[in-house]
Amino acid sequence: MIEFQNVTKVYEDGTKAIKGINLTIPKGKLVALIGPSGCGKTTTMKMINKLIAPSGGKILIDGKDISDTDEVELRRNIGYVIQRIGLLPHMTIEENISLIPRLKGWKKEEYEGRVDELLNLVGLEPDIYKNRYPLELSGGQQQRVGVIRALAAEPPIILMDEPFSALDPISREQLQDELKSIQNTIHKTIVFVTHDIDEALKIADEIAVMRDGEIEQMATPRELLMDPANEFVRAFIGENRLKDHQTHKQVMNIMRDDGDGFHMMLEEEEYSLIPFDSSIKEAASLLLTTGKPYLMVMKDDRKIGIISSSDILRTVASEGYREENTL
Ligand SMILES: Nc1ncnc2c1ncn2[C@@H]1O[C@H](COP(=O)(O)OP(=O)(O)OP(=O)(O)O)[C@@H](O)[C@H]1O
Ligand SMILES: [Mg+2]
Repeated sequence: MIEFQNVTKVYEDGTKAIKGINLTIPKGKLVALIGPSGCGKTTTMKMINKLIAPSGGKILIDGKDISDTDEVELRRNIGYVIQRIGLLPHMTIEENISLIPRLKGWKKEEYEGRVDELLNLVGLEPDIYKNRYPLELSGGQQQRVGVIRALAAEPPIILMDEPFSALDPISREQLQDELKSIQNTIHKTIVFVTHDIDEALKIADEIAVMRDGEIEQMATPRELLMDPANEFVRAFIGENRLKDHQTHKQVMNIMRDDGDGFHMMLEEEEYSLIPFDSSIKEAASLLLTTGKPYLMVMKDDRKIGIISSSDILRTVASEGYREENTL
């Protein structure tokens, strides 16, 4: 876990880049830092591996103040992917990936298998790419190597500063998917800086929206879409994305989480039960015949969702009515 406690950063020329942030990045989670250019994302990130020293406040990793930690040791335990890839041009791909493991004293037979495993993970055939130099790879391939290099020594923390920003949209989506599936197996603590709200919504467990050296909101993608904290966050997410989630919001408004799952705030007489694999037509006719405003969607005797007549109308209006459509 990484904790920022009232952290400030004033650069030597007087620029107040960070104005007292409190931020908790839970162990094993991917937290995205997002916000406009100059809001302090890179500054925040570089304070974690001590490339930049805070002017005030404290940063703790697993409860330990990092100002007491040796920075070389600290950085060996923190993978870092910088924006412009940062592969060393005079080293082969294998040498690049195994750099930190070698610095940590791993033996050749220990890191060799690891290099192959990582290259396979991002779809680069080890026998073809291992002995090439970075400039003999495409931009997207270099970026993949940049990402797996940060994973090579299995650091518990990985910092990624706009790692996919230089990529075309297709490679970018691919790498996002790859990162997500890698994270599903390795569960590292990842801080991921991006400008791209769709990227953040797709890959992050939690998103910190920053503005002008402050954190405006820290929330899960779902919470952010359902309940943006203020106008700035709303504008940053964009009205279209918010609108797409209005249906979810309606459902959430009539449900309440008691800690042991969702409980209805609806009275029993306001809904009738319907199996989850029913068709839209069956749902519509049940609403009509019962005169009740809601349907409770059931699967294996569990309540899994609520549908209102306006949800049905909205679905039909946006997707058209087809006989075979199910809930
Ligand atoms: N070495 C420095 N000296 C003075 N000011 C700096 C320095 N580095 C960054 N800044 C300023 O601090 C603020 C935050 O910069 P930072 O690089 O953290 O922003 P960012 O959110 O990463 O932006 P971007 O999205 O453009 O990368 C900016 O106003 C920037 O000009
Ligand atoms: Mg930056």
